[in-house]
Amino acid sequence: MAELFIGLMSGTSLDGVDAVLADFAAPRPTLRAHVHRGFAPELRAELLRLQAESGDELHRAAVAAQHLARAYAATIEDLLLHAGVEAGAVRAAGVHGQTVRHRPDAGYTLQLNAPALIAELTGIDVVADFRSRDIAAGGQGAPLVPAFHAAVFAVDAPRAVVNIGGIANVTGVPARGYAAPIIGFDCGPGNVLLDAWIGACLNEPFDRDGRWAAAGTVDGALLAELLAEPYFAAPPPKSTGRDLFNLDWLQRRLHGRLVDARDVQATLAQLTSTTIGQAIATHVPQAQDVVVCGGGAYNPTLMAPLADACAPRPVVGSAALGVAPEHVEALAFAWLARAHLRGEAGNLPAVTGARGARVLGARYPAG
Ligand SMILES: Nc1ncnc2c1ncn2[C@@H]1O[C@H](COP(=O)(O)OP(=O)(O)O)[C@@H](O)[C@H]1O
Ligand SMILES: [Mg+2]
Repeated sequence: MAELFIGLMSGTSLDGVDAVLADFAAPRPTLRAHVHRGFAPELRAELLRLQAESGDELHRAAVAAQHLARAYAATIEDLLLHAGVEAGAVRAAGVHGQTVRHRPDAGYTLQLNAPALIAELTGIDVVADFRSRDIAAGGQGAPLVPAFHAAVFAVDAPRAVVNIGGIANVTGVPARGYAAPIIGFDCGPGNVLLDAWIGACLNEPFDRDGRWAAAGTVDGALLAELLAEPYFAAPPPKSTGRDLFNLDWLQRRLHGRLVDARDVQATLAQLTSTTIGQAIATHVPQAQDVVVCGGGAYNPTLMAPLADACAPRPVVGSAALGVAPEHVEALAFAWLARAHLRGEAGNLPAVTGARGARVLGARYPAG
């Protein structure tokens, strides 16, 4: 008998929402459908503005949350239509929401969402607010995907899984059957600076296939300055977001330098690759290979230096292992919604730094 869950992820990149419908009846979930829906330009722009201090934030955040929830509900409708599945057949939808502030240091992380509205619009139970309980227990509230990475990608040898979204996070997956702890942390920027820089220079949302970066050359002095950011050397548990890695962060380091815009882009691609490679070498040295998921897997100008940075370990896109890069995070939130319904913990204290394992999220029943 099918055990259907929906997962919705809209990450730091602000590229829109990835939604999956998956069946968890077997030990390894099977994908029934995937839908990606881009954000309307006005919504994206407002979500971007809400990432930093600005006027009348409370009202604007509440209004944006409703627009977001309507976009999420429409995405769920598309997904069900696509799969030919009725809402009543779905146990629950795990909806991450849109992070606009991530400040575990100040005791909070803020994901805009309106789960009650999604439940009302779709007739499906919604599980949301996955991060706050981990923070309440003294953790970072992030990353939450390592347990899922381990559940799906474990093999007979230890491996690293890297999600290159707006922010990049690394999971150290022990060999199957070994009691070694799962390691996980945000290692730094994934696509967020690449997207921000091409946005500022060419008004493009992202550097398709890394073509612009490929036209530039890495600037060694700039790279060294970027790598001096203390976040990279800080030990886990650690997590980050646009709060730290944003256009301002980059522009402060570009100040007074004459670097061609394409060379900046090439340097940012190298920064992402180098910091991921260093994170694996330092914290997951036993990894025999590296699995890449998230949108960054589609950027060859990121993947080529990543292969060099991880050598001699082979670097493979998650698609080669049967899960498309854009499905992984959304599947993880379907999996976390299921864990909530089963009363199972979703966090890994060794990853987030929480005092203990906790059931994550809150459920908004459909009726
Ligand atoms: N064909 C591509 N070429 C280059 N970059 C891409 C491509 N496809 C996706 N990306 C990058 O992936 C990002 C989206 O990745 P995603 O995993 O959805 O991140 P997030 O979870 O932060 O939303 C885009 O903003 C873009 O930077
Ligand atoms: Mg995304």
